[in-house]
Amino acid sequence: MSTENQQRPDTSREFAGEVFVVTGAAQGLGREIAVEAARRGADVAVCDLDGDKARAVATELGSAHGVRALAQQCDVSAPAEVAALAERVVAEFGRIDHWINNAGTLHIGPIVDTEPQAFRRVVDVNVTGVFLGMRAVLPIMKAQGRGSIVNLSSLAGKKGMVNLAGYCASKAAVISLTQTAALEAAPEIRVNAVCPGVVNTEMQQREYQIISGLTGEDPKAIEQNWLKDMPLGEFQEPGDIADAVCFLSSRRARQITGEAINVNGGLLMD
Ligand SMILES: NC(=O)c1ccc[n+]([C@@H]2O[C@H](COP(=O)([O-])OP(=O)(O)OC[C@H]3O[C@@H](n4cnc5c(N)ncnc54)[C@H](O)[C@@H]3O)[C@@H](O)[C@H]2O)c1
Repeated sequence: MSTENQQRPDTSREFAGEVFVVTGAAQGLGREIAVEAARRGADVAVCDLDGDKARAVATELGSAHGVRALAQQCDVSAPAEVAALAERVVAEFGRIDHWINNAGTLHIGPIVDTEPQAFRRVVDVNVTGVFLGMRAVLPIMKAQGRGSIVNLSSLAGKKGMVNLAGYCASKAAVISLTQTAALEAAPEIRVNAVCPGVVNTEMQQREYQIISGLTGEDPKAIEQNWLKDMPLGEFQEPGDIADAVCFLSSRRARQITGEAINVNGGLLMD
């Protein structure tokens, strides 16, 4: 083993005794983040619109990692539901150390063909949902004297993209909200964002299908074309994003706040 490897921090129990809340954790990146936090010893609240799937994830976390896990059906765009989630976690687990605003949605289509309703829903979930999560948890973390929040933005938050007006605007807003919250929450609480590139989840598969419907291109051909643009030659895996979220949540990132970290295989560098 190299000296560098010997000096790598042991992350296996780095969140023991700490509590994570992960929104949109029934599948995809949220599920992976919840699994990774539990693997590192955290108790986890699994929140999702889909209560049954959230319960299945919570049950799996408890049995695979021996941590406490609860599931709550919750729409992150509904103020009362988000407040109830935070209250329940404190009532059952006694504290909240980490809040991951991961739930997100997207609408695909040109601006001129997008119904205002569809645009508003993207903003409601992706922007208001992040705002509500931070609004609910910041007083709890302030009272504890510590805490960390990670918001899921996107490559799309740093760059306009055809057919993704609402999504790009919402993810740019997540970066802006992250910076404001980081200033308001310091010095006790750190707030950061992660900007994934292209990760193979259901959301991504849905995107290929919808773009295919708009352009007539084969979904597999769209995927292959995107892959060609990846400097590192691969799409990102959910575990790559979960690792970045866990790093930002950990004490190892104690001097990082207000950042929006790219995990995109070099697709966009800024
Ligand atoms: N997959 C990618 O390539 C990619 C890239 C960049 C950013 N992201 C972001 O990462 C996050 C997770 O993406 P994913 O690919 O895992 O998506 P996904 O669609 O596979 O999963 C999203 C989860 O969020 C839940 N959800 C949706 N709306 C909700 C709401 N209002 N309240 C509570 N839960 C809700 C869904 O039920 C689902 O379980 C999103 O914020 C997404 O924008 C994903």
